[in-house]
Amino acid sequence: MKKIAGSDQAAIAQAARSLEEGRLVAFPTETVYGLGADAENPEAIAAIYAAKGRPSNHPVIVHLSAQADLHRWAAVVPPVAEKLINAFWPGPLTIIVKRAAYIPSAVSGGQDTIGLRCPAHPVAIALLAAFKYGQGGIAAPSANRFGHVSPTSAEHVIEEFSGSAEPIACVLDGGQSAVGIESTIIDLSRMDSKGLVLLRPGQITAEHIAAVTGMLPVSPDQSAPRVSGALDAHYAPRTPLALVRKSELDKVLAILKSRQRKIALLTCASGEMPKDAFVLAVKNLAPDAGHYAHGLYASLRELDGAHAEIILVEMPPQDTAWDGIQDRLRRAAFDSSGVLQQLCAAG
Ligand code: TXA
Ligand code: MG
Repeated sequence: MKKIAGSDQAAIAQAARSLEEGRLVAFPTETVYGLGADAENPEAIAAIYAAKGRPSNHPVIVHLSAQADLHRWAAVVPPVAEKLINAFWPGPLTIIVKRAAYIPSAVSGGQDTIGLRCPAHPVAIALLAAFKYGQGGIAAPSANRFGHVSPTSAEHVIEEFSGSAEPIACVLDGGQSAVGIESTIIDLSRMDSKGLVLLRPGQITAEHIAAVTGMLPVSPDQSAPRVSGALDAHYAPRTPLALVRKSELDKVLAILKSRQRKIALLTCASGEMPKDAFVLAVKNLAPDAGHYAHGLYASLRELDGAHAEIILVEMPPQDTAWDGIQDRLRRAAFDSSGVLQQLCAAG
């Protein structure tokens, strides 16, 4: 896969042509890197699913330029959507609304809704402006294999798809994604019965949304639409991961050390811990939600590379600014429940 500087205007124009021809282009956004395809081309969307190894009934987000005509994509744009768009676009907020009849259902995994987002990254903005004269939509999930950690740099995208023969024309390099975790997703498609439903927390919190709309979003119920990012297990490194409370960390470390385990460690300003035969890799992220989110996925990838038996993550703070981070860490840990107990057990 070719890596191309996102500052190269000719390359952006070329990437836009590739999308128009039905090929895939990976590109930076302020949240994470996306794997893009023409949202009006069902075959190109199918190629995204194939590349990611993702079930085809999972909907993808359509990225639009700030100039795009929303009514081409949405059957209904409720007033609350206008408020949210004015407040947060371009930016890390995805809104779910009823899909316009003309838009292929492949993009929504067959559902009658559509997820729309206007990204704030300059390279994404330039790509959207060059694609179909700024009126197209780029369908793009995060540019990672299904269930794995999202990429926050062009190098991560290459790591994810190296060796695969998938039709990815190129990855546009836009540096490290500033936000670092995926967009907040708010469902506006069932306003009458459910109000605002927060499908995925992110940098934009429920409180931010309430401040703009006057309504506090609720958590999803059983009838909420499918969100692959809301599967219990998601966003996970290959190494098992366990969240440990700060008050228990020293005890757990002592037990694992006495069992001669090999661990990797992600701390939250607990101070420096040296690497040794027991701790194969350490990352420390400051206890500021923005800073922590920015570094989270790159840190998980680095710790994963240490091939430890487990990645221990010191539980970060619990207040609302951390909701998105807590959500991703819980899902990353989901498949590993029990591994920590096994490693601590004698014998
Ligand atoms: O920050 C982001 O949102 C990144 C960047 C690339 O924009 N994209 C991203 O896409 O995280 P993805 O596909 O990895 O996660 C999108 C989530 C999925 O969980 C999907 O199920 C949900 O959005 N989604 C998309 N359209 C939807 C719809 N119509 N109804 C319900 N959920 C939807
Ligand atoms: Mg994803």
